[in-house]
Formats: sequence, structure tokens, C-alpha cells
Amino acid sequence: MLSVTFLVTGGICVVLACMVISLILRSRRDVHLPPGPTPLPILGNSLVLVPTDKLAVYKRLRAEFGDIVCLTFGTTKCVIFSGYDLIREVFVKKGDATTNRPPQSFFIKSIQKGYGVGGSSGNLWKEHRTFILNFLRKSFRRERLEGLIEHEVTHYIKRIHDANEKPMELRRIIGTSLTNVTLTLGMSKRFEHDDARLIQLLKAIDDIMLYSGFSEALCFFPALKYLPGDMFHAQSMLDDKEDIFKWLKELIDERPGGVPEHEDDIEDFIDAFMLEAKSQEGDTTYTEHQLLHVLFEFFVAGVETSGATIRWAVMFMLHNKDVQDKLADEIISNLGYERTPTMADHPHLNYCQAFISEVQRCGNVAPLSGPHSASKDFYVNDYLIPKGATLLMNLTSALKDPKYFDDPEAFRPERFLDSEGTYVVQNSLIPFSIGRRICLGKDLAKIELFLFITSMVQNFEFLPEDPNTLPEILGCDGISHGPVTFKFIAKRRRPVKM
Ligand code: HEM
Repeated sequence: MLSVTFLVTGGICVVLACMVISLILRSRRDVHLPPGPTPLPILGNSLVLVPTDKLAVYKRLRAEFGDIVCLTFGTTKCVIFSGYDLIREVFVKKGDATTNRPPQSFFIKSIQKGYGVGGSSGNLWKEHRTFILNFLRKSFRRERLEGLIEHEVTHYIKRIHDANEKPMELRRIIGTSLTNVTLTLGMSKRFEHDDARLIQLLKAIDDIMLYSGFSEALCFFPALKYLPGDMFHAQSMLDDKEDIFKWLKELIDERPGGVPEHEDDIEDFIDAFMLEAKSQEGDTTYTEHQLLHVLFEFFVAGVETSGATIRWAVMFMLHNKDVQDKLADEIISNLGYERTPTMADHPHLNYCQAFISEVQRCGNVAPLSGPHSASKDFYVNDYLIPKGATLLMNLTSALKDPKYFDDPEAFRPERFLDSEGTYVVQNSLIPFSIGRRICLGKDLAKIELFLFITSMVQNFEFLPEDPNTLPEILGCDGISHGPVTFKFIAKRRRPVKM
């Protein structure tokens, strides 16, 4: 009897001791976590993100707590890193622990479902990222990509001419042109600007980009998606994704022919994907499901980001007439009015390169990059970053880092030129992110930005709608940070030839 009581008491003591030790360990662990605002019971730090101006929130958090800030949402820690050097340290040097995507994120779990390349991690991500990069490299080599963008630019410039120097807005026109670039590259298909099906696709992409800003809360409190009225737009995003997939499937079904026989027969991404699927016997990740997710990502990741940068370029030209004049001088003295810019002109147009870099720095279209996740515990500046934490890079802080960009709030393309006027690459300019997840479409985007922007300046002078009032330099608060809609006048530099 005595021994039973002894055993039970002993057992309880052991359990209590374990609980106390675990509490001590947990609190010691918490001591090593980076600083941040005190989390409230249940709500954690979710109220911190309530104001709509997220960029101001991250700036304030950095001012108060420093370059590494830890927030608590539900059971998840979210760590924000600021400043170019620290971002480099975490996402490049510690890349083996910081490259995965957070599986709990609403966008990754419910929209991307762990497929595609931006939404996947581990082997699926590695295999498909390498495959897509190879495909893009081969397209560059064949100069195919450049040719198809030049073709699209011609249609685009015509659309701006069609506005007849009346106040116009760019969002729809540039969105259509960039979607056509993606469609041609992906499936050898393009649409006219007023095609109803294309307008429907653009609307769905726009909505997803806008609503994704609201979905942050769903990452940490998934139950919120069941609130009445679709307050966090979860259902709308799922419906939009369904529409885009249906649209893509229809286009794939309409494609003539079957699987190409050889690499030389590859016309577009779908051809390359199908050929790879055929060459892999047995279990393959080259499925229709994966293909649809990759194509979906090309639209979501590629159209709005490049489009927003081009819209920022117009905004900064309106605000800096002297810069616009220098751009025009350089383009027209090198190419004249007739010859359309090509990538062969790129090395000669130093001021244009500097302008585009400065637009990317000040436009800051992906202020928090994409979310990453810690695949194991690791330490930065003696702080513990626990396995499973969501990791955000504050790209704004790097693009405006005074250590690398003197007077960082000023718009000054000259900061990218040496004393001879030659463009100088600056490694600290990281609008495409940094590390193993660096934007997969970076080289494609650079060609798009160069060809679209130089052709626009060659053809038009950009003026404000009202000569006495410039549009406010104000960004949207979605997944990407484009300028809020503004109107301008595109005045022809020479008479139109119809
Ligand atoms: C100016 C234009 C663009 C900017 C500023 C931009 C920026 C970014 C950023 C910041 C990321 C997140 C990287 C990370 O998670 O650390 C990203 C990822 C990605 N971007 Fe871009 N992007 C642009 C254009 C494009 C284009 C044209 C494509 C078309 C294919 C594209 C495809 C992707 C993909 C697929 C990913 C996911 C990569 C991965 O997770 O491995 N992007 N981009």
C-alpha cells in the first residue's frame, strides 16, 4: 500500500518537475528571442498590423525595437529583419535555414497549396526552380524572349497613341501587355487589348493582388475565414484562383498538337514542361496540377510587379521633369525617333539604366519580399530564431539604407553613375530580394522594364493631367506596392504614322 502511494506521489512529483523545467526552459528560450511589442493574450500582436499603412508600421517597429523584431500571432512567431547587411546575413549566409516558405501562410496553404515554385519548398521547389531557370536561359539565348517583348511593346505604344493626348491611366494597358508577354512565353498565345476573356483574367489577378494584403491575418488565425461576409476576402481569392485555373485549362485544351519530339521543337513553356514530363518515367512532379500552379504564379508574381514599376517610372518622370528630359536626350541621341530600342542598346543607355534602378529603389514594389520560414533553430546577433518562425525581410529598409544610399529619400538616378556617366551596379539594390529565393523572373523583368520604359520615353513626353498639381506619390497597400491610380497626359514627341 505504502509503495503504491509512494509511486503515485513520486510520479506526480516527476511530472511537476518536468513541467517546471519545461517552463524554465521556455522562459529562458523566450529571453533569447528578439525584442518586440508585448503580445496580448490570444490576440498576440495582431493589433499592431491594424493600421492600413503597413510600411509606416514596419518603420515604427524598427525605430522602437531595432533591426530584428519579433511579433507573436497565435502560436507562430514572426521575425522581421531590417537593413541591407542583416538581410544579407540572414537570407544569404544562413540560407540553408531561411529558404523555405511558411506552410501555415493562407496564400501558400490555401491558394498555392504548396505547389508551383513560389509556393513550394524542399525538393519540389528545387527541381522546378532549376527547370524554369533553364527554360528562361534557353529562351534568352534564342533571343526569342526579347523579340516577343519588342512585339508587345509596339502594340502597347500604339495604345498610348490611341489616347490622343487626353488624360489617361496606365494600369489596364500595361497589365494587358505584360500578361500577353507571359502568355506568349507560356503558351504561344496573345490577346487583343479589348478581349473580354483577357479583361476577365486581369480583373481576377488584380483582385488577388489586392485581397492578399488582407489575408495576413488568416495566416495566423485561420478560423477568421469562417466569419460571415468574407471579411478577409478568403472566399473571393479562392474563387478568383478557380476562375484563373479554368481560364488556363481552356487555353491549354485549345492548344494544337501534342508533346514535342525534341528540344528543338520547343516553342513555349508548356512544350518544355510536357517534354520533361514525357522523359520522366513513373512518378513525376510534372503534372497538370503543378503546371497550372506555375503558370498561375507567372501571372501573379510577374504582371503586377513589372506593371507597378513601369507606373512608378511615369510617376517619377512627372515629378522630375529634368530627369525625364535627360532620359529623352540620351534615347533620342542614340536611337533617333524611328528605331525601336532593343537590348543591344542597353549598354549605351547608362542614364536609362540608372533611372530604372532608382525607380526600383524608390518605387519599392515588394516591400516585404515573399514570406520565408525557419527550417531549424538558428541564432542572429545572439537572438534565437525558432524553427517554424515566419521570416520577413524589410526590403524597404534595404532600399533606403543610408549606409549604401546617401540621402535615401531623394529621387536621384545619378547615384548609380560614376564620374564618367557610366552605370555602376550596386549590390545593395535588392528589389528582387536576395538569396536562394531571389526573384525567378528577374532577368525577364529587367528586359521588360528596359524595353517598355525606353520606348515610352522615345515616343512621348509625360505631363501631369493638371499642370498645377502633380499626383501624390502614394503607394497601394497590397502584396505589391504600386502607385495609387493616377492620370497623366502622354504628349507625342513626333507626328503619328498610321
Ligand atoms: C520588377 C519586377 C519584379 C519584382 C520587383 C519582383 C520581385 C520579387 C520578389 C521580391 C520575390 C520574392 C523573393 C523571396 O521570397 O525572397 C519574387 C519572387 C518570384 N518572382 Fe518576381 N519580381 C518581378 C518580376 C517577376 C516576373 C516578370 C516573373 C515572371 C516569371 C516573376 C516570377 C517570380 C517567381 C516565380 C517568384 C518565386 C521564386 C521562388 O520562390 O523561388 N517575377 N519576385
